[in-house]
Amino acid sequence: MGERLHTTRIDLAEEIRIAVIQLLNRSLATALDLKTQVKQAHWNVKGPQFVALHELFDDMAGELDGFVDELAERVTALGGTALGTARIAAATSILPEYPTDIAEGREHVQALADRYAPFAQHVRAAINETDELGDADTADLYTEISRAVDKRLWFLEAHLQAER
Ligand SMILES: [Fe+2]
Repeated sequence: MGERLHTTRIDLAEEIRIAVIQLLNRSLATALDLKTQVKQAHWNVKGPQFVALHELFDDMAGELDGFVDELAERVTALGGTALGTARIAAATSILPEYPTDIAEGREHVQALADRYAPFAQHVRAAINETDELGDADTADLYTEISRAVDKRLWFLEAHLQAER
């Protein structure tokens, strides 16, 4: 899917660009899936922490939207086709579906932490993969995303740790 490249003057070998594009499209699908899951939490969270969590989740969704765009545009910069529809995201994301039977703030924080963690792991692995492929710019993009995702995971885990 989307392996035929457009010509570009970027001086990265075609086989390297193909490998990076495949990885980027998997990250794009996962970031898009995660963004919709965070919105799901933003809309449905209940309880005494409603306002704080409702707003936090919206900030997180907005941040992921930015990463979706950056990942997609790195794909196209490398001569690839960005694969970022909802259907492709659902089919390709590394995350499980978000539960629709939870309401309490703590349950949503837990569900999101359980999804940010595998995304953080995927992004950190992608830093090394793209670095080893010789694409320092994509590695830099992944590093930026990794730092932000780790920080969000800290925000989420801080809620869980405070209630113990
Ligand atoms: Fe909203």
